[in-house]
Formats: sequence, structure tokens, C-alpha cells
Amino acid sequence: MKHHVCTYGDLEKAGKIPVSINGKAIVIVRAESGGVYALRDVCPHKGPCLSDGMLDKGCSANEVGEYIYEKDKEVLRCPWHSWEFDIKTGKSLFAPEKVKVKTYEVTVEDDGVFVNV
Ligand code: FES
Repeated sequence: MKHHVCTYGDLEKAGKIPVSINGKAIVIVRAESGGVYALRDVCPHKGPCLSDGMLDKGCSANEVGEYIYEKDKEVLRCPWHSWEFDIKTGKSLFAPEKVKVKTYEVTVEDDGVFVNV
């Protein structure tokens, strides 16, 4: 079922907005590209709200001490221990097939942002 959660204008200003739909904590995120995504607002590690973390670019590595800046991958970083989650897929960067957060379908109609839960 589709739920109106905010306006696109609100999201442009804030970058991310936490909402509650039927008791589910969800964070709505606007990517730099303008795309809008929705993820469960609970870190799977110890449970804080991911919406309290930072939106940033992803960084990967092939060996210790290496940092590969991934300009096309935007992440939401957990505020407690910095696990990073791809805002488009909800997958963690360090174990994408094992550690992830649920994502929800988002539509933008005129200035309204809707999440399908
Ligand atoms: S609680 Fe989120 S990374 Fe530890």
C-alpha cells in the first residue's frame, strides 16, 4: 500500500527524513542524482536509527590501508560503528550478500514522495 511520506522539496533540503509507517521505522533518502530511496531505519548490527548517520560516498579496498573512492555509490553510514549501506540496494559494503537492510519501493508524483509498504 502506498503512503505519502513527505514532499520532494522537504527531502531536497533535508537529504534524509525518518518516517514511521504502520510502526515500521523507515528512512527516506535523496541521492545526489535526485533519485529517492527508502530503507529500513534500523542498523542490523546493534539497532540504532540509520537516519542519525551520515549520507556519504562509498569507499572500498582490496587490501588494508587502501581506499577506493566510489563516486557512483552513495551510502548511509551507521552512527555507531560506521557500517555503510548502499542507499539503492540496502546492501552493506563489507558483506553485501549477508548484511543488508530492507528497501522499499518509492514513487515521486508531482511534489509528493510515496513509499510502498
Ligand atoms: S550498530 Fe550500526 S554498525 Fe554497529
